[in-house]
Amino acid sequence: MFHAMPTHATRVSAAVEPIRWTAQMVRPLTDAGVGSQASFLRKTFNLASVGGSERLHISALGLYRAFINGERVGNDLLTPGWTCYDQRLSYQTYEVAPYLKAGENVIDIWLADGWYRSQMMWAKNAIYNTWGDKIAAIAELRSGPGAAETLLRTDISWQSGLLPILKSGIYFGEIYDARLDDLQTRSGSEVVPFDHSVLLPHETTPVRELEPLSVQSSWKDSQERTVYDFGQNSGGYVAFSVRGEEGTRVVVEHAEILDQDGKFDNTNYRTAAATIEYVLKGEGEESFRPHFTFQGFRYARVTIAGHGEITSIASIPISSAQIPTGTFTSGHPLVNRLVQNTIWSQRANFIEVPTDCPQRDERLGWTGDAQVFAPTACYLHESHSFLAKWLRDVMADQREDGAIAHVVPDPTRLHPQNFPGFFGSTGWGDAICTIPWTLYEHYGDAAVLQETLPAMVKWVDFVWSISDGPIVMPPRQWGARGFSFGDWLQPKGPSEKPLPTIGDDAAATIYLYISSVVTAKAARVVGNVEIAARMNERAEIVKAAFAREFIAPSGRLVYDDQTSYALAILHDLIPAELLPAAKAYFKATIARSEGRIGTGFIGTPALLPALLKIGEPELAASVFLQEEVPGWLYQIKMGATTIWERWDALDKKGKPFDPAMNSYNHYAYGAVCQWLFEAVAGFRPDANAPGFEHVIFEPTILPALAPVSAHHDAITGRIAAGWTLDGDVATYTVSVPDGVSGTLVLAPGYGDIVLDGTPVTAAGNGEPTRAPLAAGQHIATFRIR
Ligand code: BGC
Repeated sequence: MFHAMPTHATRVSAAVEPIRWTAQMVRPLTDAGVGSQASFLRKTFNLASVGGSERLHISALGLYRAFINGERVGNDLLTPGWTCYDQRLSYQTYEVAPYLKAGENVIDIWLADGWYRSQMMWAKNAIYNTWGDKIAAIAELRSGPGAAETLLRTDISWQSGLLPILKSGIYFGEIYDARLDDLQTRSGSEVVPFDHSVLLPHETTPVRELEPLSVQSSWKDSQERTVYDFGQNSGGYVAFSVRGEEGTRVVVEHAEILDQDGKFDNTNYRTAAATIEYVLKGEGEESFRPHFTFQGFRYARVTIAGHGEITSIASIPISSAQIPTGTFTSGHPLVNRLVQNTIWSQRANFIEVPTDCPQRDERLGWTGDAQVFAPTACYLHESHSFLAKWLRDVMADQREDGAIAHVVPDPTRLHPQNFPGFFGSTGWGDAICTIPWTLYEHYGDAAVLQETLPAMVKWVDFVWSISDGPIVMPPRQWGARGFSFGDWLQPKGPSEKPLPTIGDDAAATIYLYISSVVTAKAARVVGNVEIAARMNERAEIVKAAFAREFIAPSGRLVYDDQTSYALAILHDLIPAELLPAAKAYFKATIARSEGRIGTGFIGTPALLPALLKIGEPELAASVFLQEEVPGWLYQIKMGATTIWERWDALDKKGKPFDPAMNSYNHYAYGAVCQWLFEAVAGFRPDANAPGFEHVIFEPTILPALAPVSAHHDAITGRIAAGWTLDGDVATYTVSVPDGVSGTLVLAPGYGDIVLDGTPVTAAGNGEPTRAPLAAGQHIATFRIR
């Protein structure tokens, strides 16, 4: 059976081990460039004795794996990780005494293309050698922590040889010829020019294997290939054992779906081959899992060329999201599956970098997706250091004029000719403002605000400069300065009678307002009154301009679509006197789409919170729970096990939408889980006491979801909340961690309130009722109508 690889190398966490490097970055002279057979570096060295606290500090240009005396060091995957390598290169530190012995020792460092030089981005403009064309390694063995004695370092004396890995790439997959696994050096190495100042201790949890997924069913297809269904779409790789003749080839292809005829279909992978090939050496049972790649898949199709037989196979998910911190369950099985699908989409897209998808020739750190998903990410998994690390790369890729890259790490920054102007979209670039604030709210991290504030200001000033004023008019042309994705994938309804969608100008102007407000708040927290004042003033100017430009005297918003109303209402952009009318227009947009969603990537996270804000919980529940396209639950009914990129990825017969852009594993629409935690279970952080020092409990009782139960392991402890419904009487149970305070906030319509056995007088005057909650368990009962 397959288990996560055991190891006895302790990885030393990042912060404690900054070192002054003396080693050199050396490349194997056997390396023939991108897409060629992988190489290793080797050094034989002697130790008089083993002290017990020897540490290996190591990194590479490309991906590496280290072995001492034949044993793999640690079980971290895809090391050194993915950052903007020209400015920031992570290194790992391992305690390696258990591997060492007095006398002769041998260290091998395996190297492969990885994100550094294998294909990045898609189609004819794909980029190779993105950050450089020479893979290399740097390593230093010290006798102990800190400035201890250096026992070994990489230099020109290291030898090199070829690995059994004939080819590997992040999108490509890996070809491994086991007949070549007797590693022999055949050449030397060369020092490559390298600026040691870019080296930094890896800043977050390593990518590691998660629990294996076993085969749920398998069958032979018309070409005698075996298709395995692991029952769960994920990001990772297969691990298999095989018996057979020397030279037999095992080819593994991957897919997320079966098409309407039940056929294995991975046309949506586009130019990502995503194939694993293993050539047997024909000695008994052989086991294999790839080293330097991963795939996004639920199904694996195995072809055996020659004589051999798979004796066991499993799907091994991998992720940086190693620590689950939240669950949400309800009485609605489709909703519970939706939450599970979001958890799996986070795992598959939190592999070193928050990506859009794990399967096709993209898998990029799309900023817009990350900004809408960040709050949900923090509820579901420990995400602090992961997102903080990535924000540093967002800043590294920020352009001189303040534009934020569409994807980070950004392959186009060093190759602008391939994808000109691949930066500067509102709704996407705003990640530099909204994500630091999310980390502040969830983890009380003011340092990340301090660190990112200058980049926030540069971004807000960039957006203002697009049209040199409060109304932002993004050009339509891709690559033009200020181009915006608007509300990406906003449903338009039937083409012959399309539904209104938000204009890029309104979406961009709303986000200029959102980021000006967040930047002002961040500046206030870190005590920068000048910036706080400037951004506040800017926000007021944008708010007034938005009303002038996009709100008719009748209260109708000019684009009259769901995203406009949802964002404008959620961010208080509608003058009070026009709000009643705007609420009616908002509801009309939902009626116009037959009660279905009419929002895309940036509108969707705002839709349900905005409906609650205008006092429409039933309407919010019906939009959330309707099971037709577009909608969250349609994909669940269609058997999805992760979140789809598009609402209409499969039609009712299971026919896939155009594979040119159809990922079945995009977490963006999973951002609705934030609403499930904050509005339905009802707990959220309080920016005035961030990091869940104080918790606000404000449940919205939606009978169709009863009973509801949720918890979140915050940095202050476990927060839990849940409710049951008996007729019109809700029983709300909450748990407040020690040392934490809470406030219960009950909607104006909730009455007959009893808290911990004591009646509570409702606030009345349409005001919510508030009651303080000390640490501990609390039970409140109240009538919901
Ligand atoms: C990506 C999305 C991204 C979008 C923006 C798509 O190709 O997959 O995640 O947000 O482009 O255009």
